[in-house]
Amino acid sequence: MEIRWNTKLYCLIGQPINKSLSPIIHNNIFKTLNQNSIYLAFNIEEDEIKSTIDGFKAMGVGGFNVTIPYKKSIIKYLDDISKEASIIGAVNTVKNHNGKLIGYNTDSGGFLQTFYDNNIDIKNKNILIIGAGGAAYAIASSLAMEGVNSINIANRTLENSILLERNINKINNEIMTKVVNLSLNNLNKKKMDIIINTTSLGMYPLENMAPLELNGFSSNTVVYDIIYKPCETRLIRDAKAREFKTFNGMSMLLNQAILSQNIWGNLDKKINIEIFKKIEGILPNYIE
Ligand code: ATR
Repeated sequence: MEIRWNTKLYCLIGQPINKSLSPIIHNNIFKTLNQNSIYLAFNIEEDEIKSTIDGFKAMGVGGFNVTIPYKKSIIKYLDDISKEASIIGAVNTVKNHNGKLIGYNTDSGGFLQTFYDNNIDIKNKNILIIGAGGAAYAIASSLAMEGVNSINIANRTLENSILLERNINKINNEIMTKVVNLSLNNLNKKKMDIIINTTSLGMYPLENMAPLELNGFSSNTVVYDIIYKPCETRLIRDAKAREFKTFNGMSMLLNQAILSQNIWGNLDKKINIEIFKKIEGILPNYIE
């Protein structure tokens, strides 16, 4: 694509951003759509958020993504946020709507999309979430909004599990919740339908680690590891060896980006799956 005077700018802000795949994903989407737009990433300091987004407004940037560690702190600088972003307490996508900056969260939708695309109905499912950090919050919130039967939380730090459990109960008090210990000896493993790893165990440089052992789980268990580097973590390998259904973090990463493009109005939802398949084939080339 040729950059011209009227090329529309989209951005990413965060720190660090040097490993981000978002520029690859979004610029490939623009290329596929033959759209006169470009996506650039900016590594900014916390005290530069306001001046950065004032600049975005002044320059008429179409929209931007926000990544770690600013998904919460960005909120106070925005003109409004969606109900979903407000429930999750984090924004990863901002649309410039005629000079007003509106915040959204597509991490949660991006996570759920994997289940929709694979015809897995998560209502009535029993979920085990490993970890209780930022990613676990977005995922647990989306599961709570969607409605599942139970959410069981296992995390290294007990206090963080308890805070996450409270957050789930606040969103949907009909979901059964339980804090379990990392050894999982107080969990009915056979009843679990879906295991989700939200920790960094298994991610480069901890590739040799797995957040849990899979013995004792039913053969129908679905294992979703949100790590995408490497594409196949030790947990995913263990799950495949047991012939469990598995998903890696690539689908969540790609779906959240596609949903951002839907919000910015660049991509018609009808071709989301087509775009997903196209970019999914390109991405592994960029994962070092
Ligand atoms: P993110 O925003 O990616 O979720 P985070 O908020 O730092 O990152 O959360 C990381 C999660 O991985 C936390 O649940 C963390 O456990 P603690 O609450 O005890 O900190 C978990 N985690 C990170 N390193 C871990 C390790 N070596 N062993 C077990 N859990 C780990």
